[in-house]
Amino acid sequence: MANLRVLFLALVALIALEQCLVQANMYKTTVFNWGRQNGAVYNEGNDLSLTLNNISGCGIQTKKQFLFGSMEMQIKLVPGNSAGTVTAYYVRKKPGHDQEPLLYSLLLMLRPSSLLFCVCMQMSSSGDRHDEIDFEFLGNLSGQPYVIHTNVFTQGVGNREQQFYPWFDPTADYHNYTIHWNPTHIVWYVDGLPIRVFRNYESIGIPYPNKQAMRAYSSIWNADNWATRGGLVKIDWNSAPFVARYRQFRPRACRWMGLRSITECAASTAANWWTLPAYGSLSYAEVGQMNWVRNNYLIYDYCKDTYRFGAQMPPECSQQQF
Ligand SMILES: *[C@@H]1O[C@H](CO)[C@@H](O)[C@H](O)[C@H]1NC(C)=O
Ligand SMILES: *[C@@H]1O[C@H](CO)[C@@H](O)[C@H](O)[C@H]1NC(C)=O
Ligand SMILES: *[C@@H]1O[C@H](CO)[C@@H](O)[C@H](O)[C@H]1NC(C)=O
Repeated sequence: MANLRVLFLALVALIALEQCLVQANMYKTTVFNWGRQNGAVYNEGNDLSLTLNNISGCGIQTKKQFLFGSMEMQIKLVPGNSAGTVTAYYVRKKPGHDQEPLLYSLLLMLRPSSLLFCVCMQMSSSGDRHDEIDFEFLGNLSGQPYVIHTNVFTQGVGNREQQFYPWFDPTADYHNYTIHWNPTHIVWYVDGLPIRVFRNYESIGIPYPNKQAMRAYSSIWNADNWATRGGLVKIDWNSAPFVARYRQFRPRACRWMGLRSITECAASTAANWWTLPAYGSLSYAEVGQMNWVRNNYLIYDYCKDTYRFGAQMPPECSQQQF
């Protein structure tokens, strides 16, 4: 029995390793889940464009589901004044537009006049008590900075937003946005710099996304009724179409094979590279990088928002953050 199990883990490892060596061909690994006519996969499956026009946005999702690993994508955000557009890249169980009510209230609450559109990256599972990891980019008037928006849902509950300014122009070129996710923590990376960590505090009763398979999703949609001042700023369709470009999608993650993956993808084996000690916590250098980002570019941290939570601060906020 023991031998069989080892053999199986080795097989999983081979699959993961294969995914690790080459970027995914998006013809093979993804499928459009809405607005097919506004999306294009080109350059032999390496590149993707998602377009929003006055008729529709569009979105893709991975065919496969995953538990732990990393999701990497190079994204070039919509340039110019694309007020009200939302682009999403994410791994989650539900399509991204389900989130509008949450973001709507959040944006109103945070910076009523500052946000015009959004580009997002998320990972998610499905169902009422879904898990989700968000990496999103909220726009502003032309020439104004984007806001990088992050959140984690566990068992259907989010409210864990942190926001940053990018330290570069995200519309000028492609940048590397990666979600790293293992049994110990989730790390959001921008061009290799960690910007946020969410640690597993299941031991003190905080749910952690480690039991539900996730897909990666990406989409762009019209959000001008919620992303901007409660809808006061509308998309200027004269500037349409709005195009977000993606390339080098690399899902280096443990493929979900059913419930047995809950233990198999979390097993500390050399094959499950995401469980190696090196990935269990940030290195000294990474902590320094993250402190630089957070000291200079952090805009909003839910753990600091006593106005919002009052005496009921989320329990993880009083724990070590990374
Ligand atoms: C959408 O935009 C096209 C091109 O600008 C325009 O011809 C068309 O009338 C618009 N459609 C709607 C429904 O606004
Ligand atoms: C865009 O963002 C900047 C920086 O946060 C902010 O000062 C400005 O008010 C925003 N623009 C609009 C139109 O809200
Ligand atoms: C993108 O960033 C991730 C996380 O730091 C890193 O593992 C990966 O190698 C980077 N990809 C490229 C193409 O540099």
